[in-house]
Amino acid sequence: MKLFTVGPVACYPIVLKAMGEQMYSHRSAEYKKLHYDTVERLQKWLETQNPIYLFSSTGTGFMEAAVRNCVKDSMLACVNGDFGKRFAEVGKSNGRKVEVLEPIIGEPITPQGLDDALRKHPQVEAVAITHNETSAGLINPLPELCAVSKKHGKLIFVDAVSSMGGTEILVDKWGIDICFSSSQKCFGVPPGLGIGSVSKRCLEIAEKLPNRGYYFDLILWQKDHEKGQGTPVTSVIPQVAGLSAVLKMVEEKGGKKWYFDLYKRRNTKIRRAVKKLGTPVYPKRGYESPTVNCIKAPKGVPGPQIYEAMRKKGYELAQGYGALKDVTYRIGNMGYIPNQSLNSMLETLKQVYDEI
Ligand SMILES: Cc1ncc(COP(=O)(O)O)c(C=O)c1O
Repeated sequence: MKLFTVGPVACYPIVLKAMGEQMYSHRSAEYKKLHYDTVERLQKWLETQNPIYLFSSTGTGFMEAAVRNCVKDSMLACVNGDFGKRFAEVGKSNGRKVEVLEPIIGEPITPQGLDDALRKHPQVEAVAITHNETSAGLINPLPELCAVSKKHGKLIFVDAVSSMGGTEILVDKWGIDICFSSSQKCFGVPPGLGIGSVSKRCLEIAEKLPNRGYYFDLILWQKDHEKGQGTPVTSVIPQVAGLSAVLKMVEEKGGKKWYFDLYKRRNTKIRRAVKKLGTPVYPKRGYESPTVNCIKAPKGVPGPQIYEAMRKKGYELAQGYGALKDVTYRIGNMGYIPNQSLNSMLETLKQVYDEI
């Protein structure tokens, strides 16, 4: 099966090879070297001085960490799809009051909309933004949204699960307090590893906040990070080794710009091809995701039918998600996708459209 999923995505062969090595202790000198080398490469990639923690959980662990460690009473969640909704749920389920900014689906969060929401709810301590809303194939204007949040003096939490690695994110320049992702997306590594940077401001708040829990206690993570210990719990060593292999590969090929351009080329090729077939992408023009195309299903054809037909021919795309399940289907362009597979997938999709 050739994968054009939205995560977990196909892994690079070098990742699978690195992950197949024999285990060693996460307290060994070998692991510590791998850990801090990987952290440094990620800091360089995200252009940040903030510490980066490698959680033995998926990215959602950082939503929990952000809420438990940094929000005392209330936060604002920007929701334009199911993952924004999840961040709001994490806030509510931890007993915080969550205000919601929710444009109609397919529309971005606008700087003006955010400014209005923060004027209406000046008490919120933090703003949660989904950079790339995977469910709708939409990318929000992150630098502008960060500037508005900063103007209001709010903490900024960014869910970059399907954007980190696939498009530029400048953590320090944009002033992001917590920026997190998962291994199974743009870096093309199996699931199980959460990657997140945390600002000094967050740590100062966390220090004074009771009931942070244990597993995602940022103070505990920072202590072990500073001590040279890496992680307070057992690390997912194979995933870290896989991530290290990808970061090295990208550096050898020309750096992150090379990787972003590769994603852009794949993504544009898919978008143009589906448009030619008469089915444009779902989100508002100018806000199309660079890592996943969410495509309107042909008139009268449920999205899952396209997904099933492609599966029978050896291509795993992704079904629509949440509210868009029936009216869309999705094609991801993250991870290991040889050019030849991309071309044959698009030819097969044309056949499927001819047959339905
Ligand atoms: C934008 C976004 N946020 C959060 C998640 C949840 O990530 P995880 O399952 O790795 O915790 C996903 C997963 O698809 C996602 O795409």
